[in-house]
Amino acid sequence: MKNKLKIGNIELDNPIFLAPMAGVTDHPFRVICRKMGAGVVYTEFVSADGIIRESIKTLNMIKFQEFERPIGVQIFGNSPEIVGKSAKIVCERFQPDILDLNYGCPVPKVVKKGAGSGALKDLCLMDEITSAVIENTPSNIPVTVKMRIGFDSKHLVSTEASTRLEKIGVKAITLHPRTTKQAFTGKADWTYIKEMKEAVNIPIIGNGDITNTDDAMRMFDETGCDAVMIARGCLGNPWIFKALQNRLNGIQENIVTVKDRIEMCKYHLELLRKNKNVNLALNLTKKHFSWYLKGFNHAVSWRTKFLRAQTHNEIDLIMNDFNAFAQEELN
Ligand SMILES: Cc1cc2nc3c(=O)[nH]c(=O)nc-3n(C[C@H](O)[C@H](O)[C@H](O)COP(=O)(O)O)c2cc1C
Repeated sequence: MKNKLKIGNIELDNPIFLAPMAGVTDHPFRVICRKMGAGVVYTEFVSADGIIRESIKTLNMIKFQEFERPIGVQIFGNSPEIVGKSAKIVCERFQPDILDLNYGCPVPKVVKKGAGSGALKDLCLMDEITSAVIENTPSNIPVTVKMRIGFDSKHLVSTEASTRLEKIGVKAITLHPRTTKQAFTGKADWTYIKEMKEAVNIPIIGNGDITNTDDAMRMFDETGCDAVMIARGCLGNPWIFKALQNRLNGIQENIVTVKDRIEMCKYHLELLRKNKNVNLALNLTKKHFSWYLKGFNHAVSWRTKFLRAQTHNEIDLIMNDFNAFAQEELN
């Protein structure tokens, strides 16, 4: 295992981070990923405007339990004043371990206003937003940034931005090395993670296209990054955190069985039912089950059955059948 990583004064158990994902990294999923060994988890990105309006929906996205720590709350916005104020509110009300600024979101509605990766077009605005946030955040909560490499392939700014952000007082940067224009197409170009790592002295967290432990080990090797962050690679596969921890400790990875998948589905369902309203719990159950139920005989047919369910009662009935199926598979 590498030396224990520190972000600001926060010491982390391991250098394997769950990425912020809108519509995914809610309380139930974060709990699961922490249990499975993620060293840090993040909220979904939260709008600074929503925070200062004290929108209940927005504030609910930030609520977390002690068990989830260390947790980063990620905020986004385009106005230094509003993002700064929102940082103050988040820190006072929730005391997260990390406050993260989103300069990576490629969604046109967000970018058009200069928020998310829109800030990559104007590094002076990025400086101003970041400074405002640092001024409004108590010194025991490190401010970090998550960004892309630039708006398009002609304007690659991540290395320059990293040196500016370090000077302003940012305590770590996550780089997803694609441009805004690329969104999720093409390949993440990890050479920019290496370049950033060599340009600054704060921890650099590499992100992009880690789908298994081999990818993660390769990212550590090729870039020298201090930590890795996983997004799509843990959808339906939260076991990846434990597997990678084991790899880093020289222990062999466990194989994920159908039984493990069923148990995870049941646990996730229980958390969703406790934390969400009936309809949302049903929709999220179907979304996550369609990710969990892959890679075994008849997986497609089980996925389809769950996806067609209209009620929680139907989910329970299918789950009973699925249990029986798994018992037969094991015998
Ligand atoms: C469904 C989804 C939602 C995302 N939402 C966010 C978000 O709220 N904040 C953020 O910084 N990145 C967000 N991302 C980007 C991921 O954090 C990550 O940077 C990107 O997916 C690349 O990593 P990966 O190859 O491991 O998926 C999202 C990605 C996905 C797939």
